[in-house]
Formats: sequence, C-alpha cells, structure tokens
Amino acid sequence: MKNKILVTGGAGYIGSHTCIALHEAGYGIVVYDNLSNSSREAINRVSMLIGQPIDFIEGDIRDAELLKKVFNAHHFYGVIHFAGLKAVGESVSKPLMYYNNNVNGTITLLEVMDEHNIKNLIFSSSATVYGDPEILPIDEKSPRSCTNPYGQSKLAVEYILEDIAVSDENWNLICLRYFNPVGAHPSGRIGEDPNDIPNNLMPYISQVAVGKLEKLSIFGHDYPTVDGTGVRDFIHVTDLAQGHVAALNYLKQQTDLQKFSSDRTNAIQKKSVGFLPINLGTGKGTSVLELVNTFSKETGKKIAYQFIDRRAGDIASCYGSADKAKTLLGWHAELSIADMCRDTWRWQSMNPDGYNAKN
Ligand code: NAD
Ligand code: UFG
Repeated sequence: MKNKILVTGGAGYIGSHTCIALHEAGYGIVVYDNLSNSSREAINRVSMLIGQPIDFIEGDIRDAELLKKVFNAHHFYGVIHFAGLKAVGESVSKPLMYYNNNVNGTITLLEVMDEHNIKNLIFSSSATVYGDPEILPIDEKSPRSCTNPYGQSKLAVEYILEDIAVSDENWNLICLRYFNPVGAHPSGRIGEDPNDIPNNLMPYISQVAVGKLEKLSIFGHDYPTVDGTGVRDFIHVTDLAQGHVAALNYLKQQTDLQKFSSDRTNAIQKKSVGFLPINLGTGKGTSVLELVNTFSKETGKKIAYQFIDRRAGDIASCYGSADKAKTLLGWHAELSIADMCRDTWRWQSMNPDGYNAKN
C-alpha cells in the first residue's frame, strides 16, 4: 500500500511542484489548502500532469475540526507542511495575521497530529532564520535570528518543534530551510503566480520580460559582493521538490528502523529523528546582476533595469552549505541558473496572467 502524505499548502508554488515529485516517487497525496494564496487551477494542472485526480480539501490549518475529520478519514504516514503566509513586507504591517496563520496554524496542526498519533513531519522553514550570517556558506549550526515577523514566525515554529521533540521521542521532525526557490515545472503548466506586483526578484524579472512591468529596480549597487549587487542561493523549485522526496525517504527509513528495533526487545534501540534542520540550497551564490544577465542570455529578452537604494532589511550575501542534505539525504541540487531562467520564462510566457489565464 502507498504511504499517504497530507500536504498542507499543496496548491501553492513549492507545494504543487512537490506533489508531482511525491506522486512520481510512489507516495499517495492529500492536499489541504485554504487557497488564500493559490487557486484551484493549480490543483487542476497538477492533476493533469500526474494523469489522475488529486484528493483536495479546501480548508484552513487553524480549523481543528476539519483537520480531525481529514485525519479520521485517511491513514497518513506523515505531513509535509507548506501552508503559511510568506510576504516579508506584509508581515511587518500585519504581524498578528502572520503569527496567527503561521504559528497558531502550525500548533493546531501539531495538536491534531499528536491526537492521531501521526508524528512524522516535514516543515517548510527558511534561510531567513539565519538573519545576517557571519560565516558563508551558512551551515545548520549557524546562529539564528530574525528581524521581521515572517522570519520570527518561522523561527517560533522551529523552537516549538525542538521543544516537542524533547518532550516526546516519537516525533520525527525534519525542518527544511530553503534558500531562494525559483523556476517552474519544465512543462510550463505550473509555476509561481504572485498576487499583485512581485516582491521577489525572479518573478519581477520575468514580468518585465513578458511586458507586464516596465523595468526592474535593483536594490543596491554598493554591497561588498562580486559586482555590488546582492548575492543569493537560487535553487530550482523542481530540485527543491526532490529534496522533499529525499527527506521523506529518509524519514521512512528511520521510522522503519525504529519499528524494527521496538519489535525486537533485545535489539539496540534506534533513536528517533527528533528535530532535524537541513538546508536546501545549491551551496553557490549568484548576484542579482548575474541572474538578470543569464535570464537575458537564455531567453533573448532584454531586461531593462535601474539601480536604486538598498531595500530595508536586505543583506549582502546569503548562500548555504548543502553538505548535510548530501550526506544525510543523498540529495543535491542538479539544475543550473540557466535552467532556472529558461523554465521560469517558459511558465511566464505560456501563462502571462498566471493561473487566471484561460489556457
Ligand atoms: P505559497 O504562498 O505559494 O504556498 C503556500 C500555500 O499555503 C498557499 O497555497 C496558501 O493558500 C496556503 N495557505 C496559507 N495559509 C494557509 C492556512 N492557514 N491554511 C491552509 N492553507 C494555507 O508559498 P510557497 O512559496 O509555495 O511557500 C511554501 C512554504 O515555504 C511557506 O511556508 C513559505 O513560508 C516557505 N518558504 C518559501 C520560500 C519562498 O521564497 N518561496 C522561501 C523559504 C520558505
Ligand atoms: N531584488 C532586487 N529587486 C527586486 C527584488 C529583489 O534587486 O525587485 C534583490 C534583493 O535586494 C536581493 C535579491 O534580489 O538582493 C533577492 O531578493 P528576493 O526578494 O527575491 O529574495 P530574498 O533573499 O530577499 O528573500 C527570499 C524570500 C524570503 C526568504 C528568503 C530566504 O522572499 O521569504 O528568500 O529563503 F526568507
């Protein structure tokens, strides 16, 4: 029988790509999403790509009663928890909304999991928990600190997960810290579909390329980096999706070992996974200008840009060590910056209005 996974936030950008990777890896999926930042069309497209209907529940992770019904109706192996709000700027003006959604929502989910004795979880954390790092590349032992409510909400959930792992050794909690996810499925059918004007670099570039926005503003030209612009660890969303499959396979292997050892009284007791933070990045930094130039080269589209002041809260450079993911999960990112640009452009040019378009 297939292991069934509850995917919260599975209609969103990273969740939708991960659903495809999970299906291809032989996992069963049930998507739970309140569609606050996604659409049914994303679910339709994923169904089309995997060639079968998706088990989809429209619901909020803060709705304990609905979650309980879902946990009673299915036997889940575990949960991949993407559901959350993610706009840094919005979190500064609406902190309560962010803490309520991201922290309270996760607590509700964990309580329902606990009640149903489902204790295997993969959580979407972020490189933002590292704040302004002193040492690059950033490894998982680097100190954590955040300056905005979005980041604080991720950090708060990390602390909660650490505490519950200490309180009960049956929890197996992998905390994936993503760097900068970009790109789209190679089919061009699913991708990132931001509401309004994008805050993030890659969707902004692609909307300039497709003619929806006039020019890119590059925030800062005086950072201590290769060309004065910010440096980030861009990672293709399909690589990221594979990272989740690798994390789930690892969890499965570990929980099978735990079961095996508890079935044999004399066997050496295998330890639970506990709280396990893992970076998902490429290990390489790319500057804003390098990304803009690669996008132009790969797509033949000229990207108009201007330099303006630094954006408040931005750091100069952020890229992670990918060693732990390689050693523990046997996973590493395979796709290049050129792949990320080409796939972003295929999605953007096939869907200039995102999921709203009738195509
Ligand atoms: P997204 O907004 O595309 O997906 C999140 C999904 O969660 C959306 O479909 C949204 O409708 C759903 N959702 C939000 N609140 C919910 C709630 N209360 N109940 C049910 N569903 C809810 O974002 P994404 O880029 O796919 O990010 C997925 C996760 O990864 C988020 O937790 C985000 O914070 C984290 N993350 C994203 C990035 C990034 O740059 N994209 C980087 C680091 C971490
Ligand atoms: N940038 C511009 N112009 C833009 C947008 C961005 O120059 O219009 C620059 C930024 O100044 C930065 C780089 O492009 O140097 C990347 O910016 P993004 O907004 O794309 O990404 P961030 O690194 O600021 O943050 C992203 C997510 C966060 C997440 C973080 C680490 O938005 O949620 O990556 O994972 F926490």
